Amino acid sequence: MKLKNLTLIALLIIGVFLFTGCENKEITASYDVIPLPQQIVKQDGNPFILSNSTSIVYDANNENMKRSAQFLSDYITFSTGIKLPIKENTDANTSNTIVLKSNFDHENLEAYQLSISKDLIEINGASEAGAFHGIQTLRKSIDTTPQVAKVVFNPVTITDYPRFEHRGMMLDVARHMFPVEFIKQYIDLLALHNMNRFHWHLTDDQGWRVEIKKYPELAEKGSMRTETVIGKNTGEYDGKSYGGYYTQEEIKDVVAYANDRFITIIPEIDLPGHMLAALTAYPELGCTGGPYQVAREWGIFDDVLCAGNEQTLVFLENVLTEIADLFPSEYIHIGGDECPKVRWQECEKCQAKIEELNIKADSKHTAEQKLQSYITTHVEKFLATKGKKIIGWDEIIEGGLSANATVMSWRGIDGGIIAANQGNDVIMVPTSHFYFDYYQTKYTDTEPFGIGGYVPLEKVYSFNPIPDEIPADKAKHILGVQANLWTEYVPTTSHAEYMVLPRMDALSEVQWTNQDKRDYSSFIERLPRMMNYYKAKGFNYSTRGFDVISDISIDKENGTATVKLTTVDNAPIYYTTDGSTPTSNSNLYTEPLKFDQPTLLKSMVERNNGIETPVIETNIELK
Ligand code: ACM
Ligand code: ZN
Repeated sequence: MKLKNLTLIALLIIGVFLFTGCENKEITASYDVIPLPQQIVKQDGNPFILSNSTSIVYDANNENMKRSAQFLSDYITFSTGIKLPIKENTDANTSNTIVLKSNFDHENLEAYQLSISKDLIEINGASEAGAFHGIQTLRKSIDTTPQVAKVVFNPVTITDYPRFEHRGMMLDVARHMFPVEFIKQYIDLLALHNMNRFHWHLTDDQGWRVEIKKYPELAEKGSMRTETVIGKNTGEYDGKSYGGYYTQEEIKDVVAYANDRFITIIPEIDLPGHMLAALTAYPELGCTGGPYQVAREWGIFDDVLCAGNEQTLVFLENVLTEIADLFPSEYIHIGGDECPKVRWQECEKCQAKIEELNIKADSKHTAEQKLQSYITTHVEKFLATKGKKIIGWDEIIEGGLSANATVMSWRGIDGGIIAANQGNDVIMVPTSHFYFDYYQTKYTDTEPFGIGGYVPLEKVYSFNPIPDEIPADKAKHILGVQANLWTEYVPTTSHAEYMVLPRMDALSEVQWTNQDKRDYSSFIERLPRMMNYYKAKGFNYSTRGFDVISDISIDKENGTATVKLTTVDNAPIYYTTDGSTPTSNSNLYTEPLKFDQPTLLKSMVERNNGIETPVIETNIELK
């Protein structure tokens, strides 16, 4: 036979093999997803086999459930290649179907029950949102494996509900602007993690990012900065103008996109500080009258809205009217953080306002802090006429807190404790655990730039939202938890992905799963499946939680050091001490290493689950 024919036959055999291989490929679902469901009860019986003859059915005439059915079908196609048709429920289709319903009887409307038996997968939500969360659990139970023929689901009953009602993430689009497509992707990530609130930080000193029809200059002028500082306020600038804003049409589109995924967008208009962009557009709203410049560097700026100028209140009412119309959310975030009072102290109008209102400093608060409270309260009352409530950063406590304000506790948890004990609602977002602009490793030299700090994955996971200082009868005031991504040092979408993935996974379990069911090593075992999904999606995610950790103890007397190497998942560690780059052929670490010479220890890990971590260098000195 000629060589050409042989090659053809070989190719044919390989082709048939690949084809049948893919035809038969079968994987088994695992219900240990993130966030971990509250209750998973295995059932007896034969498994449900999902294949291309399975269909998804939804309640007739329910557009929301129809949309959710399509989401589920799309998710399954992404993770397996299997395409499932969606159909209206006719009651005739009882076998080999995934049935979506929304009449599960549970006090928590976001609850769902996922029941799997040989013939049927039923997701029954206590509401359409609950069903959507059940859909997320089902899709996360399937490891992303392109070209699967069958997924085996062992019989189970999962009964699940969220621990907290506010489960969110914030994104700052003022310091850096992100395209609508990315905002939607961020919302998709929230949905994947059973979150239900997207806090959209739309305005700040470095840019105003939402079109306001009554004040066109906000978008025209306030959204553009002439250039941006390089690095951490180095005094050097890049010379490139930077800016952009979302039109109201774009905002509506994003709000609808989030709504389809049962996510409420909470917009933030940060006031009365962090307003340089607005002041640049409308300088008459500042104490000095300007001129002002959209900030080109990072930080806190003395120029804020003039609290003594009646036009400031008119401006805020007009802006918030448009915001309230654009966002159906019950809550509007009005910022309130980092508002210096130096201009107010020197401004005739502000001081006249303090007199007019008969504001007096006391042992707890300055008159100017109380002046900020006057603005906050005015805005709160105004928004109440539109059926809205306010959320503010914990500084809003400072001049006296009004009864209906919700506090976002960011400077630690103390503000949250004070507010909850006073009977105010609270969302916990402390920098120590939920500032995702902070580094997630101590090896910062090779990391994408971060603002500083250290918030590793385990730290995020370790948070207990209800500290001991809040008694049981006040615990209900802790509405929930969220993480914040400030973007001074996050200029690109890929960088943003890196900062939130996978810390968002740890966050989601803090938000969703009861405290007594949470366990970090169990979480770590469940995480690779999520990472596999991120990889398939092409996301930039961090594996730093899986790094080798070296623990050095030095015996100064004897001039020796002992080094213990660990990984969170007990993966095998290989190391060198001669300066060469370790491979899986290097020494296998089995017990603590002893050194009596200064040494450069290099270690690496090999895993078969696709998680790769960098070589870790540990400089061992004996003093
Ligand atoms: C904040 O981080 N300034 C709320
Ligand atoms: Zn003033």
